[in-house]
Amino acid sequence: MADCDLIVRNALLFDGSGAAPMRGDLAIADARIVALGALDRMDADDEIDAAGHALAPGFIDVHTHDDRALMIGDMAMKASQGITTVVVGNCGVSLAPWIADRAPPPPLDLIGAQADYRFATFGEYLDTLDRDGIALNAACLVGHSTLRAGAMDRYDRAADSGEIASMRGRLREALDAGAIGLSTGLAYRPAISAPTSEISALAELLAPAGAIHTTHMRNESAEVDAAMDEAFAIGRAANVPVVISHFKVAGAAHFGRTKETLPKLAAAMARQNLGVDVYPYAASSTVLDPDFIEGADRILVTWSKAEPTQAGRYLNDIARDWNMDRHEAAQRLQPAGAVYFSMDEDDVRRILSFREAMIGSDGLPHDAHPHPRLWGSFPRVLGHYARDVGLFTMQEAIRRMTGLPAERFGLKGRGRLLPGAHADLVLFDPETVLDRATFEQPAQPAAGIETVFVAGEPVWQHGKSTGAKPGRALRRQAR
Ligand code: ZN
Ligand code: CU
Repeated sequence: MADCDLIVRNALLFDGSGAAPMRGDLAIADARIVALGALDRMDADDEIDAAGHALAPGFIDVHTHDDRALMIGDMAMKASQGITTVVVGNCGVSLAPWIADRAPPPPLDLIGAQADYRFATFGEYLDTLDRDGIALNAACLVGHSTLRAGAMDRYDRAADSGEIASMRGRLREALDAGAIGLSTGLAYRPAISAPTSEISALAELLAPAGAIHTTHMRNESAEVDAAMDEAFAIGRAANVPVVISHFKVAGAAHFGRTKETLPKLAAAMARQNLGVDVYPYAASSTVLDPDFIEGADRILVTWSKAEPTQAGRYLNDIARDWNMDRHEAAQRLQPAGAVYFSMDEDDVRRILSFREAMIGSDGLPHDAHPHPRLWGSFPRVLGHYARDVGLFTMQEAIRRMTGLPAERFGLKGRGRLLPGAHADLVLFDPETVLDRATFEQPAQPAAGIETVFVAGEPVWQHGKSTGAKPGRALRRQAR
């Protein structure tokens, strides 16, 4: 009988800690890493010669909207990047808990239609993922806007005490079922009228449960300082770790302002538990909201329910064809989504270079013509920003995608190459790894990602999904 199921030999091992890589072998048995180093005396049922290739912990995409994508597909857009775990339920939007009695308001419509919001409890959602099978692992947040949709008849006001009690009840159920925390999307209509006190009334349930809080802040341009202060205050009042989502400063009038916001963030990190994620592009993407149009230099339509054939075209061109201004055209496209070219490349690089910045794709998997971050974020950081531009080393890029997020999100036994850890792994070519998705052709698998294992089983190999579904809904573990 062989010593283990599989040995990957002669790989350049990046352990996820940020340490320099070492050449060696890695052995897997029963979905776990059992040994690494020089394993000449071990034999296995199966061997891979990985000479010239890198082996790293599977990447953790800490910012996704894959709540429903997990249930309907092979997750090729993520597996093809080397991602083995996704954090879903970000920006205040989660598929559970809510049985929708009306059309989900934007941005809830980014992840599903009314019929898709069909989970009375968070536990039912997690159980469905496990029962039906998923390709990658999922750690799941509860969205504040989803809680509001279930508890309130309108969104343009603060929740009253009865509604807060109802939201607290749903959040408590979700945390008991294994949700890893609460997300907010305070810039969006369903939540913009929620005062800080409403978030705090929910966030106070998080620390006793060992859960976290992630936030799409109330503002990411002119009022970014106040928005950061609000996020910090919520974290301090509830004594809970906070992750600021897709950290940025948007709008040409604010270019360069990360020179102030990053030191502000670093100073706050010295006082409280804070994290931050970023996607490696100078363009954002979300619903097409006429209020978001100013400050974007170009706007690319990613989907439109009213005018589906306009997906993939620029709003300026559409407006010209229709003989109207951009606002009128945006109205006619509703409901719709868009990419906004609204950031400064130097700001993006400054945030990426911040040692605490994790990588989160923020990809929108149901868009007809998605932002390329859906397919390209992780290979772009590895190939473009680390190897080609030289913002940081390959081992540092990998740490920000593995060891750092596993620690911040409480994902025990993941994010590191260690004996006993889960065998979530990516085998790739560090010389050729690169994103191929572009704004014109967004649905392109990256170059250089060879094999991706979840729980020891290949989910991506030979340039395509294997169809395997070894993923699990990861219930929150004690910290
Ligand atoms: Zn967001
Ligand atoms: Cu998001």
